[in-house]
Amino acid sequence: LLKKIWVITMFPEMFGAFLDYGVVGSSLRGERGDMPELRLVKISDYTEKGFKGIDSSPYGGGAGMVMRADVMEKALLEGIFSQYQEPDKELIVVATGPRGDRFDQSSARELSCEKRDIVFVCGRYEGIDERFLDKYVHRHLSLGDFILSGGELACMSYIDATVRLLKGAVANENSIVEESFENDLLEYPHYTRPADCCDQEVPKVLRSGDHKAIKKWRDTKQQEMTMKYRPDLLKDIK
Ligand SMILES: C[S@@+](CC[C@H](N)C(=O)[O-])C[C@H]1O[C@@H](n2cnc3c(N)ncnc32)[C@H](O)[C@@H]1O
Repeated sequence: LLKKIWVITMFPEMFGAFLDYGVVGSSLRGERGDMPELRLVKISDYTEKGFKGIDSSPYGGGAGMVMRADVMEKALLEGIFSQYQEPDKELIVVATGPRGDRFDQSSARELSCEKRDIVFVCGRYEGIDERFLDKYVHRHLSLGDFILSGGELACMSYIDATVRLLKGAVANENSIVEESFENDLLEYPHYTRPADCCDQEVPKVLRSGDHKAIKKWRDTKQQEMTMKYRPDLLKDIK
């Protein structure tokens, strides 16, 4: 399925730590079976003036700088499209930005089932010249209703949530199926050793060994937790 995840960014170095740690890091390093490869395209490699060539002042005036469409286009065409026979069919281009659909667990599921390779585009400054977005972007995804200084953190969040859903990324696949947002519910609470801590004991049922009773307790807790913390999710249950 998904073979490559591309990122167009001014700061590929930001992805260093992301690749170094945890289940997603080791998946993307190819240590967990058949996982997509992360390929980083540095925008300044596609201008003659390096970093100085990436942005320019906005037509019409106003604050801040805008990333140039011609530079972004060059990075996309030369850095990525050139490696595909039919880039229009083989790639989906996703821009990070506040205008996008709010990224959530179903977006992660959709991306994890994607048959095309994915290109994430990370903006900086005031964003990217609209003409590039118009021509090349299939989908916009937002991390939430706030403004980040760049798309990289959003992009890492999208990749993290997507890759951990791929077969083999997480050792125990049940842990993915039972997580929050599956069936529009939050997860039940977890406890581990010691049995007595923070002035509280671990609920007895969890130490009973009675799997039926444990399941029932967890189902009830899922409902209670969702009602308490995210009642809006319950409204989505048909
Ligand atoms: C400072 S922001 C630009 C904000 C833009 N001027 C606006 O008002 O919508 C720079 C870049 O950060 C990224 N970004 C900002 N907020 C984001 C969000 N909520 N979700 C995803 N990416 C975001 C986008 O790539 C954006 O191009």
